[in-house]
Amino acid sequence: MGSELIYRGSETQPSSDSYSPKPVKPWASVTRTIHYLLREQRLLFVFVGIAIATLIFTVFPTSSAPYVAPHSRFTTLIPDSITYFPIETQQKFSSAHRLGFGSANPTSKIPLGLKRKGLRIVVTGGAGFVGSHLVDRLIARGDSVIVVDNFFTGTKQNVMHHFGNPNFELIRHDVVEPLLLEVDQIYHLACPASPVHYKFNPVKTIKTNVVGTLNMLGLAKRVGARFLLTSTSEVYGDPLQHPQKETYWGNVNPIGVRSCYDEGKRTAETLTMDYHRGAGVEVRIARIFNTYGPRMCIDDGRVVSNFVAQALRKEPLTVYGDGKQTRSFQYVSDLVEGLMRLMEGEHIGPFNLGNPGEFTMLELAEVSIYYPLILLMN
Ligand SMILES: NC(=O)c1ccc[n+]([C@@H]2O[C@H](COP(=O)([O-])OP(=O)(O)OC[C@H]3O[C@@H](n4cnc5c(N)ncnc54)[C@H](O)[C@@H]3O)[C@@H](O)[C@H]2O)c1
Repeated sequence: MGSELIYRGSETQPSSDSYSPKPVKPWASVTRTIHYLLREQRLLFVFVGIAIATLIFTVFPTSSAPYVAPHSRFTTLIPDSITYFPIETQQKFSSAHRLGFGSANPTSKIPLGLKRKGLRIVVTGGAGFVGSHLVDRLIARGDSVIVVDNFFTGTKQNVMHHFGNPNFELIRHDVVEPLLLEVDQIYHLACPASPVHYKFNPVKTIKTNVVGTLNMLGLAKRVGARFLLTSTSEVYGDPLQHPQKETYWGNVNPIGVRSCYDEGKRTAETLTMDYHRGAGVEVRIARIFNTYGPRMCIDDGRVVSNFVAQALRKEPLTVYGDGKQTRSFQYVSDLVEGLMRLMEGEHIGPFNLGNPGEFTMLELAEVSIYYPLILLMN
């Protein structure tokens, strides 16, 4: 038997002039479609379908055009309780910054099951002093908050009033390890803030600032979240300029015992800007100045907590030097307001967040003696 693979290349092809195609009938496809629709009352079914759909969307209307966070990948409803967010900004954002889901037609109605009540926000270090107050405000605004904390200086007690709230989650996690979460915003606060704590394990402090920030920026990049870094006035080091403007580059000792914190935060700022410039991550940088208020760690060695602790124990207050050196102190709720405005605003920063008014240490000592609890009251 011969092979079944037969070469036919040499066979003659029909010559082109022997081929005579059928003449194309004009309107053939249109008339065929009309006939198809009219056959078996198909057109009637189409009209009935349209009528049912119209009825459903009239009887169960979805919300009117939803607000879309400028940086959110999802359509998001901002509750009425939001007080600090200017209406013009909301309108501007809702028309100008629509991304991802629902971006094609901003006024289109979203299916009922997909409606979301607020933003999904991660707060690293959310069980700490500043973080826990920020969490309170975000939850009150109607957002879903995930706190990521290793409880080095923070405590569960600071956030336990949210336990049982479906909008609240607490994850024991060290930011030095990577983490994947689906969120719209990341407030990155995780880092011991007082000298007593950050000098306790300086290598860990710098790892938290560098590797931790890298991990959170990586997360922001992956999920398209906006990222806010809580940096510090310590990036100015031993400043030669008073007051320090954001444009001042500082005077920092790279090899001192505080460098793990100062240089760590400076590197965190560098990483933040490089992720912004290189990977297009939306970032914000806050440089926080001295802050006080409830849930401060009473033994953290900072001047307000030192004075208050000594006053409550009825011990003499320790004032260094002549006590005429000045510092500024902001109340924690003002800081939280500033952080949230920065996150929602248009500007990257860095922004100094603090109280422009300065007090001498003697003035602070006096307040601490007479009203120690006022400094820690809500
Ligand atoms: N409080 C201030 O006056 C002040 C001033 C300047 C900057 N800041 C910055 O603000 C942020 C919050 O400060 P705070 O005063 O609330 O400090 P804090 O110590 O009360 O809070 C820090 C939180 O981060 C957590 N944390 C630390 N390392 C972590 C890690 N590796 N992984 C996960 N969680 C970790 C701690 O457990 C704690 O809950 C810090 O980044 C700090 O540098 C604060």
